[in-house]
Order: sequence, then structure tokens, then C-alpha cells
Amino acid sequence: MRDAAPTTIYLKDYTPFGYLVDSVHLTFDLAAHATRVTSRIAFRPNPEASDKTFFLHGEDLKLIRASIDGADITPEITDKGMTVVTPDAPFIWEAEVEIDPGNNTALEGLYMSNGMYCTQCEAEGFRKITFYPDRPDVMSTFTVRINGDLPVLLSNGNPSGKGEGWAEWTDPWPKPAYLFALVAGELIAHPGQFTTMSGRDVELNLWVRPGDEGKCDFGMEALRKSMKWDEDVYGREYDLDVFNIVAVDDFNMGAMENKGLNIFNSSAVLASPETSTDANFERIEAIIAHEYFHNWTGNRITCRDWFQLCLKEGLTVFRDAQFTSDIRSAPVKRIEDAIDLCARQFPEDNGPLSHPVRPESFQEINNFYTATVYEKGAEIIGMLKRLVGDEAYSKALDLYFLRHDGQACTIEDWIKVFEDTTDRDLSQFKRWYSQSGTPRVTVSEDWNDGTYTLTLAQHTEETPGQSEKLPQVIPVAVGLLGQNGDEVRATEVLELTEAEQSFQFTGLAAKPVASILRDFSAPVILEHDHTDAERAFLLAHDTDPFNRWQAGRSLAQDTLLRMILEDATPGADYLDGVLAVLRDGELDPAYRALMLGLPSQSELAAALFDRGETPDPMAIWTSVETLRQATAQHVQDLLPRLHSETLIEAPYSPDADQAGKRSLGNAALALTSRLDGAAMAAEQYAAAGNMTQQLSALSCLLRAGKGEAELSTFYVQWQHDRLVMDKWFALQVGMASPATTADVARTLTEHADFNWKNPNRFRAVMGALAMNHAGFHRADGAGYALLADWLIKLDPVNPQTTARMCSAFQTWKRYDADRQDLIRAQLTRIAETPDLSRDTTEMVSRILN
Ligand code: PHE
Ligand code: ZN
Repeated sequence: MRDAAPTTIYLKDYTPFGYLVDSVHLTFDLAAHATRVTSRIAFRPNPEASDKTFFLHGEDLKLIRASIDGADITPEITDKGMTVVTPDAPFIWEAEVEIDPGNNTALEGLYMSNGMYCTQCEAEGFRKITFYPDRPDVMSTFTVRINGDLPVLLSNGNPSGKGEGWAEWTDPWPKPAYLFALVAGELIAHPGQFTTMSGRDVELNLWVRPGDEGKCDFGMEALRKSMKWDEDVYGREYDLDVFNIVAVDDFNMGAMENKGLNIFNSSAVLASPETSTDANFERIEAIIAHEYFHNWTGNRITCRDWFQLCLKEGLTVFRDAQFTSDIRSAPVKRIEDAIDLCARQFPEDNGPLSHPVRPESFQEINNFYTATVYEKGAEIIGMLKRLVGDEAYSKALDLYFLRHDGQACTIEDWIKVFEDTTDRDLSQFKRWYSQSGTPRVTVSEDWNDGTYTLTLAQHTEETPGQSEKLPQVIPVAVGLLGQNGDEVRATEVLELTEAEQSFQFTGLAAKPVASILRDFSAPVILEHDHTDAERAFLLAHDTDPFNRWQAGRSLAQDTLLRMILEDATPGADYLDGVLAVLRDGELDPAYRALMLGLPSQSELAAALFDRGETPDPMAIWTSVETLRQATAQHVQDLLPRLHSETLIEAPYSPDADQAGKRSLGNAALALTSRLDGAAMAAEQYAAAGNMTQQLSALSCLLRAGKGEAELSTFYVQWQHDRLVMDKWFALQVGMASPATTADVARTLTEHADFNWKNPNRFRAVMGALAMNHAGFHRADGAGYALLADWLIKLDPVNPQTTARMCSAFQTWKRYDADRQDLIRAQLTRIAETPDLSRDTTEMVSRILN
């Protein structure tokens, strides 16, 4: 099955397919182990292509028959597909294949989940359904007939026929095969309705398994809000008569934007106050918006090839972030996104897996659905918008939709609409797409007789395959504060385009304090030798909410690093600053809760490594514990009142206002638990009326080494609910002490409910293990060995999820020689596993190199 030497695919090798597809007709005769797929496809030579090789992808297909213009052929088939000689004129291709969805554990192509048939075709799954030119630049209309003895039979587009045991769907919008979807099963519809801006009625449905009907209201409302928002903000109207969303339990990713038939991991759509946390609600709302927004940015305008993945993903993540900012709190969303970027994208960009937002080569495209492509891709759009301004941005977007509707596009097309609307030369800006690595911006200042000079220098470290880095265009939003805290210069966007550049501010009465990289205006690492006093000043006075938060974050990081490196005690500037913020009742509770957050232990390890130190996971863990304890004592008097924020009279709502109060109250509970032996947490657990309150109380109890009884009652209460049980598994590993994490995780893998073939459950335990920094990095290597055991076990079953989880090892070169040896041994053991998948092979070899 596997190739001896995996092939590498290059962006520079792109050529168009030799044929165009005018229409696709598919018939599915469903059977768990022998589904028949009959295709009838109208091809014609592509006048714009010189290479007329007729290659159809096909994997794991049993060919029953094939014909061209009615004449049977017996093609030679490899494990990748077939090449056939065709007429140099339009022709009809017909084929019948047999597939085995019941044994498809990889969850790619047509597979089964709890007796329900469903598909996942992005990126290259359609070739496991039938022979086809499975590439995003080949677009066609699809008509799909499903024959099957199941009550609900769905595909893309509009319904075009229905009878006992069959249904037909027609999708009038040409689409690439990766957007194809089919669902069949015993599902229940939660219906909804939307009237578009031009007055068309759209029927909405959220399809769920019996028992999940009570978890649909929120998702449906989020969908309706998204549809309205895309009309209001981008002028984008929905374009079919129906929009279906289906929830499935077995899914590798969050969700998929198939045309008119989005398929969701049930964790990314099902919600109820009793079973979902406030954070779950926010995430679900964002994912529903994301998939819906793909209808225009992804589906109507798609990608020419998979190297252009960020064209749809970066833009769609940017759009869903705008949506969340609009309907919730913009500063809170910006801070959450910055935390996420630092936690997930920076380690990727600064380690062995570093790759450009638009990669230039890959072996397995599934390995490039990364934080870099998605989140850094979205940051690039944000920078572009900041540089050209809001008005030019919306003009450029209008032009993009007008010019490219119905096309499969490239980043060049995207950049060109901005150049054409603004007359700017964006060639240097485009380096953001091709250069990997996180730029570091160093700040130096000079004050002379009323003139303040800010000098910014940029530098990007060498990354795999890229030794030379050129200066990028970095928008640096800056504001200046006077000594009394007043803003003496409002925010201005400086364009840093050279390796080093100075900017002058004249006519100032006194030396200002600069607030730099406001609103996190670029995805860079800012190196600014502020004194603790300056940081404390910004924490107290910065008028930019993001930088005010950032000042607190840097203070926290500096004090933690001093505690680790110099055995210092927790810094007073940090403790007093936090106290003042918590006291400030004018500040949004959600914002105050974020102010209580600390850099993650993994980020602290990165910061130490950056300073040339070898991070010691236990020392990091201890510093965090000590600072938490000191904070709890320092703000002790405020805690009861802060905790009472969670006592909301109104019925539960997941809205930003209530969620913010609960988040502050629960942050206070976590601190209180360090002082009262988690007594208040036990009370909250007993009284909890929603999952946010219940779970945060349970986590406080576990952190305090208690909660044994509550864990059992929680299990009894929720064992019927797969999504809640995922939390039960993850929390125990996440809250375990460094010494016991690996053992707790191992014991849980022996639990009867550890269904490891379900990606959510696998991730609940193994993902939590990898995220528990000090536990995962236990000095004897038990954490590494356990994860490697399970990755080896999962690989033949589900290569995609296995490969993604290998990234837990990507930071290995930060650590000491003993840990490096232990990790290298595990990576080598994985790499040497016979028949290792292409996905995992690529990941492990990149991490090892
Ligand atoms: N395209 C999906 C999204 O970002 C993600 C996805 C990729 C899902 C590949 C499944 C498989 O919305
Ligand atoms: Zn997406």
C-alpha cells in the first residue's frame, strides 16, 4: 500500500487539469460494507491546458465497471488512481465502484458513525468515494441520488426529488469535489428559517441523533445571526433554498463547510447550559459562523490548489473573529486570539514544523491545516486591513467577490484586488505569505528636548528550508501616554518596512511612555525592555485595552522568570497591579478575568529558551504555583465579592455579559480554593445549575487534591452524554499533579468508556496529557512513552488524528539533553513502526530534523 519514498508535491509544479467537467451525476446504493457508487460525468478538453493526461484519482475503490461514451474499458489501476486514453472531444465517463464505509475508521471519504453514513472530503477524501480529478480547481455542478433504507437522506444543494427509500439533490453551484457531502441516517431535524436580504426564504435544519434535540437552539440562533451578519457587513447573501447542518460524533476536525450541507463534530455545534460551558458556547458560535462564512470565502470563491489553503481559511478565520468581536466584546476577543496565537502558532513558527502561511511543498496536505495557515493567515488579513484602512478593505472585498465569483483562486489574485483598489504596491507585504518564522521587533527609545524617537528593528530567525529572511511590512500601532496617564498622542500605525527604522514624535512637554503594538497590530514578538515601573504604569493607565492587558501579562512573565532564574519572590508591581485592576469595578468582568491569567507553562519554557536558558518544567510549575498562592493572598479581601459575580439572578444565558461575570467569579474561586481548602468550590459544585459552574468547581477541587466523591457523582450524572464525558476525561488529566499526570492518563485509557477510536475521546485524554506541561515532561519520560504508545496504536486506524497529535513533540529541542534523548527515542520508535501512514511519517520526520 505505502510508497517506499513518499512523494513531495510542489507549488511551482502546478498545471491545470487537461479537462473541464460540465456535470457530475452520482448514484449511491447504500450498504454498510458494500456501497455502490455509480458516476456519470461529462468531460471536455480544457482549451487552457497543454497537458491532456486524463488521470483520475481513486483510492481504496473496487472498480466494478467503467466506460467512455458507452464503450466499456478495463483501465489499469494503481493505488492512487488511473490514467485512461480519451477522445480529444467532449465525452461521457461512467463508472461503478464499491466501497466499504463500515470499515472506514480514518473518517475520510464515506464512513459510518453510530449507524449514520457521512462523508468528509476535504482535502482529498472524494477519491475514496469514486474515480475523479480530485483537485480544487476542477469545479462542476453535482446531481446526487441516494438509495437507502433510512429516513433522512441528504446531499449538497437543493432537494430535487424524493420517494420511499430514495432522495435526489441538485447543487446548481459549480464546486470542487472536496465540498461534496452526503449524510444518511436516523436523524431528527431542528428546523429554522431565514429570509435573505432580497426576500428569499431559506429553510434551515440542524440534524441530530435522537436524544440531542435539546441541544440545538443555540446553534440555530448562531446560524441565523451569521447569515444576517454576512449580509450586513460583507453584503453576502445565501444562495440556496435550504441550509443543512449535521452533527456527527466521529469527526477528525471541528467542522466542514460542504456546500449547503455543513457537517459538524458534535462538540462544535451541540450545546445546552447543563452540558456546555460558556467557553463551549462561544466556540460553537464562532465555528458555526466560520463554516457559514465559507459559503462565499471558500465555496463561491475557492482555492486553485491546496497551497492556497490560507486564501479561504485565513480570510474565513478573520471574518469569524470580526463576527465574534461585533456580537461580543472586541477587546476580549482580541486578547483571546493573541493568547491562542502565542500558545499554538508561535511554537509552530519557531520550531521544526515552521512553514510559510502559503507552503511551497508538502507530502500530505492534511498536515497543513495548521495554526499558521489558519490563525497567522487571519492575522495577515488583519494587518492588510489596518494598512489600507477600513474603507479600502471593503472596496477590495467587493472587488474580490465581483471579480472572482465562481473561480478557483490564488494568493496573487487576492493581493491584486488590494493593489487595484488602493494603488499600493504590495509586493513586500506579500512576504508574509512566503516567509516562515515569527518576526521579532526590538524597541529602543530616545528623548531629546521635546522630541521622542522610537527606533524599531525587525529580525526573523532562520527556519527549516529558509535561511535568509528579508524585512517584512509590519504595521505597528503606537500611542503615547503622558506622565499623568493622559494620552498625548492617539494611536497611529507606523509602517516598519526596513530592518531598522526610526520614527519621531515632536512637540512633547515631557518624556512619554510608549504603548507599542496596540491591539496586537501584527503577529510578532515584541522585545521591549520596559522597566517594571513602566509596565505597571501601562497596566494602570493604557487607554488601549489590549496593551493594558499585555502590560499585566509581561509583568507576570517577568516576575515568573525572575522567580525561576533568580529565586526571586513574586514581584510587588505585578501583585499591586492585579489588585488595582480587580478593584476597578468599571472594568468589564471578562476583561478582569483575563487580567488574572498567566502565561502558560509552555510559553514560559519558550521564553526561557529564547534567553538561552534550558527550561526546567518542574521549576516552571513551581513558580506558577507560588505566584498563584501569593496572588490569592494579596487579593484575598476582594475574593468573596468577586466570586459573588457568578450569582446571577436572571436565567442562564451564554451571552458575553453573563459569561464574563462567571469567568471572573470562577477565577476568584480558583484563587479562593488555594486559601480555603476548596471549601467554597465544594459548595459551588453541590449547588451548580449549569456546566460552567459545575466544571470550574470540580477543577478547583481536583487541583486541591480533592474531588474524589464529586468525580464519581459527575460520572454517574453524565455517563450517558459523550460530550460531557470528554470533559470528565480531560479534566482529570489536566488537573493532575506533575508526578501523577502520566499515571492518571494511563489509568483512564483502561476505563471502559475510553473509546479511543473516537477522536474527541482520544484527544480528551492524550491532548490533555500533552497540554499538562510539567506532567507531560516528567523527567523519567513516562508521559512521552504513553503518548507514543497510543500514537502508534491509533496510526493504522486514523492517520490524520495521529499525525496532528505528533505536534505535542515539536518543542523538544528546548529541553535538557536527557529529555531530548527520551523524546528522540520515542519519535524514532514511532518513525520505525512498520507501515506507518504517510501523514505520521511526514510529521515525525519533520520534527526529528
Ligand atoms: N475546512 C474546515 C474548516 O476550516 C476544516 C476541515 C479540514 C475539516 C479538513 C475537515 C477536514 O472549516
Ligand atoms: Zn475553515
